[in-house]
Amino acid sequence: MKPTDLVGATPGPPFTITFDGRRLDALPGQSIAAVLWAAGILSWRITRGGGRPRGAFCGIGQCHDCLATVNGRPNRRACLVTARPGDTVTTQEGNGHAGFDE
Ligand code: FES
Repeated sequence: MKPTDLVGATPGPPFTITFDGRRLDALPGQSIAAVLWAAGILSWRITRGGGRPRGAFCGIGQCHDCLATVNGRPNRRACLVTARPGDTVTTQEGNGHAGFDE
């Protein structure tokens, strides 16, 4: 049974995004973090100090562990950014230099 069956949800048609060149299925309304988790991807950032892997931690926009580069823009919080058809997500190395805007 899928999660959508449990809650009786009727999401719109699926679409695809890419993560480091890999095509992933997404549903309307899913955050980028949710799409990555659903594909079994738990890490999409490498820390500047030590090169340690990071992914989502709080899931509510507070910890900034989930930063990813989305469509060429670094420092997007994957737990807050809604996936859109054709999005290109890439692993972010370090913390980038752009401001937090989402
Ligand atoms: S998981 Fe904490 S800000 Fe996204």
